[in-house]
Amino acid sequence: MTRVLHRSIAHDYPTAISGNGITIRDQNGKDYIDASGGAAVSCLGHSHPDVLNAMRQQLDMLEYAHTSFFTTQAAEELADDLVAHAPDGISHVFYVSGGSEAIEAALKLARQYFVEIGEPQRKYLVARRQSYHGITAGALAVGGRAWQRKAFAPLLIETHHVSPVYEYRERRADETAEAYGDRLAQELEAKINELGGEHVMAFVAEPVVGATLGAVPAVPGYFKRVREICDRHGILLILDEVMCGMGRTGTLYACEHDGIAPDLIAIAKGLGGGFAPIGALLLHGKVFKAVAEGSGAFQHSHTYTGHPLACSAALAVQRVIRRDNLLDNVGKQGAYFARRLQERFGNHPFVGDVRGRGLFQGLELVTDRGTKEPFDPALKLHAKIKREAMARGLMVYPMGGTVDSLRGDHVLLAPPFIVDNRAVDTIVERLGDAIDAATAAK
Ligand SMILES: Cc1ncc(COP(=O)(O)O)c(C=O)c1O
Repeated sequence: MTRVLHRSIAHDYPTAISGNGITIRDQNGKDYIDASGGAAVSCLGHSHPDVLNAMRQQLDMLEYAHTSFFTTQAAEELADDLVAHAPDGISHVFYVSGGSEAIEAALKLARQYFVEIGEPQRKYLVARRQSYHGITAGALAVGGRAWQRKAFAPLLIETHHVSPVYEYRERRADETAEAYGDRLAQELEAKINELGGEHVMAFVAEPVVGATLGAVPAVPGYFKRVREICDRHGILLILDEVMCGMGRTGTLYACEHDGIAPDLIAIAKGLGGGFAPIGALLLHGKVFKAVAEGSGAFQHSHTYTGHPLACSAALAVQRVIRRDNLLDNVGKQGAYFARRLQERFGNHPFVGDVRGRGLFQGLELVTDRGTKEPFDPALKLHAKIKREAMARGLMVYPMGGTVDSLRGDHVLLAPPFIVDNRAVDTIVERLGDAIDAATAAK
């Protein structure tokens, strides 16, 4: 009997014993290809020797020093590295241990920024439906997954939600992608005007929506319009790149593709690649300046902030990605992956859409490609696909509630940046078999 409160209490989890490259081995010696990087975490695969060596060296030097007493070389070097490659205007890094913490820090820093600059009336947050920003109270409040918020609603801070960019279902047939993006930007501005622009603090969005929609990028021009709107109203733009950032889509930051730079960026997952729990909030120079010239300290900290072992792991991960030109491989293999997925699922009777960018791809399941009718949620098709994939030695990240938080199923794919054509072919083949088996009874 297990004493661990597992994610799903009734589920019997295999025990992961070892990892090597793109595979994880369980206690029975069965290998699983990690085609989702867990949850878009393991960007270098498992047990990368250079990262393990860097971590060992750090442990030989120092395992921990509390940040109210000391800084460390690992924390300083990682911050220099992150700022050097960050979007325009980013000047500083605040360390945390994961994605939800990065979002919490973003929300509080946004609020503190406005208090520091003499605009304390700004208190509203605007975010998007069908987004995931984390599980802690603030992150859950800005997240747009209705079922997950429901039980905790009385505990959540006030957040206002607008439509996500969800071209497959919500772009009208008579609308170009640009016109659709304009319509959504207008909806955002209307919401801001309704709340009173001078009362809004921040807009929060994932540049490519991960867990809730299944690798859905924005349409061209959308984020440029969002940036203009935020600037016009003096609102901070917080981008959640916890899942889509750090190279996953082929550029280090997903927002590079949209040609904009935010005021605050949350990163985690691929930052440390699973070698250690680490996340970070990257802040624009103007935010740093307001705090530095105001109260002099961000009123927020954690015991494990800037943990040297986590920072050394993340620094090693980022250096390997650059040294081995892995973003080129994400672009190249991402294009190959997208092509292979199209070939296998482009005419599949139960796959309505294949989308994504780089090694961040998603499939949406439908009962009818013409009407786009989702499967009955009671069937839990996403869970069936996961089971069938695991049985075939394949890890993918399926999820339900794609359409409106209740209906719809998708499969999220996020293999390590080290995949080659052969690995991609095997992933597509096993996934095809798993989806065929899961939908066979339909
Ligand atoms: C976009 C996004 N933001 C935030 C989070 C929360 O990160 P964590 O689970 O590390 O707290 C996630 C996790 O899946 C995520 O995908």
